[in-house]
Amino acid sequence: MTYFLGIDLGTSAVKCILVDQEGKVKAAHSVEYPLLQPQPGWAEQHPEDWWNGTAGCIAELLRHAGVSGAEVKGIGLSGQMHGSVFLDRSLQVVRPALLWCDQRTAAECEWIEAAVGKERLGELTGNKALTGFTAPKVIWLRNHEPERYAQVAHLMLPKDYVRLKLTGAFGMDMADASGTLLLDVAGRRWSTEVVERLGIPMEWLPPLYESNEIAGRLLPEAAALTGLAAGTPVVAGGGDQACGAVGVGVVRQGVASVALGTSGVVFVHDDSYQPEPECRLHAFCHGVPGKWHRMGVMLAAGGSFQWWRNHFAGEEMEKARQEGRDVYEYLTALAETAPLGSEGLLFLPYLSGERTPHPDPKARGGFIGLSLRHDKAHLTRAVLEGITFGLRDSLELVKASGAPITELRVNGGGARSPFWRQMIADIFGYPVVTVNSTDGPAYGAAVMAASGVLGRSIEELCERWIAVESRVEPDPARQAQYEKIYAVYRSLYGTLKDTFHQLTDLVQEQA
Ligand code: XUL
Repeated sequence: MTYFLGIDLGTSAVKCILVDQEGKVKAAHSVEYPLLQPQPGWAEQHPEDWWNGTAGCIAELLRHAGVSGAEVKGIGLSGQMHGSVFLDRSLQVVRPALLWCDQRTAAECEWIEAAVGKERLGELTGNKALTGFTAPKVIWLRNHEPERYAQVAHLMLPKDYVRLKLTGAFGMDMADASGTLLLDVAGRRWSTEVVERLGIPMEWLPPLYESNEIAGRLLPEAAALTGLAAGTPVVAGGGDQACGAVGVGVVRQGVASVALGTSGVVFVHDDSYQPEPECRLHAFCHGVPGKWHRMGVMLAAGGSFQWWRNHFAGEEMEKARQEGRDVYEYLTALAETAPLGSEGLLFLPYLSGERTPHPDPKARGGFIGLSLRHDKAHLTRAVLEGITFGLRDSLELVKASGAPITELRVNGGGARSPFWRQMIADIFGYPVVTVNSTDGPAYGAAVMAASGVLGRSIEELCERWIAVESRVEPDPARQAQYEKIYAVYRSLYGTLKDTFHQLTDLVQEQA
């Protein structure tokens, strides 16, 4: 048999899947690794943990699936975006990587916008300087850890470190490179202007590829560790959002997706580069060669629900464990028992600060409107509604930019709940569909590998392999009720912004 291996290097775990030549998933396996939070607002990981996790995950996947390394004809990489991996001349890691959800670089973002000029930065990179992006992390290292900065010889994104370990080759795809803030997104090449103005050595940056281009071949030592065959081609792959979109077939104009992972993303395909004048949405290269996309990213979507589960759903976790059920099923069933709008209770999902539409590392979460009537069911429903309102904010920006949307494909862990899917349809006012591929970015990475190795286009493979499976329509009565509640939700950030900043500053003073 012929298989393609998709690897998705996530924030909590790496997931590897094997996909056959007909697009069917043969097997999947995951391995978790720790997330370090050495200070409030900081998020780091050890690149060595990614590599050890990935090598072990592939070996276990092949063993478990009874597939020999020789049957795997191509490998695609997806991964968490924006993280900064710093290596020295001998390819040793200089310090733990700063991740996409790390919020320490507010001052560096201001400096970058002044150094390049806010407008010029927007024209060239399609984006503003945001704390999660890579370039501010590089400047942070220069400002705060100059002795480590002096050791750096290579800069790369998380999955490209795994590529280096697999193939010995440096490389990055244009979709993921868009999130560094160093790419000329229209020209699909490094922006000499931005890189020079920031004083970052150009030789630190890897060569760029389209996502389905072969960017290296498996090293014998990586083959020995994983059970794969030496020489297996590894395509460039993409950042997890581009791969996730390819994985649900968002590869043509009009098709959009809502990804409910730790972060929450509203993603639209663009045939041409369409930066927004104010750069509130990100305008990035797509994982489809010669195409682009825009997206709004909320930082804690599934992450908010997970936080709720971890701290307030001990009882449900225990029940779910005893019955062998998924605790999220329990919690969504509980939420369903509360009325629409949670009887005047709103949840603000800014638990990690926010990115779209409020690029504010100091934003904070909250429950607003509590009363004695409220119980756990109300609070759980409010969490789901608050996350969905937060995503609606991104949808509003997409609609305002004139991007046509004919179909919204929901994916990620949250897409499994029919109740949440209906809530999205009601709050968004669009029909919401799910597709037969549910393995997210790992599946998109496998599609890219198959495309590169078989010489077929990504669009053609998506057309053949991915089909719509379910569809829910918005209910007009519920939609009308949600419209009124959304108007209140929308006003809250502006009202509370100063309070959020005061609270965050207090915590920082005490730290
Ligand atoms: C996208 C983003 C997140 C991470 C999560 O811009 O920051 O989706 O890639 O893995």
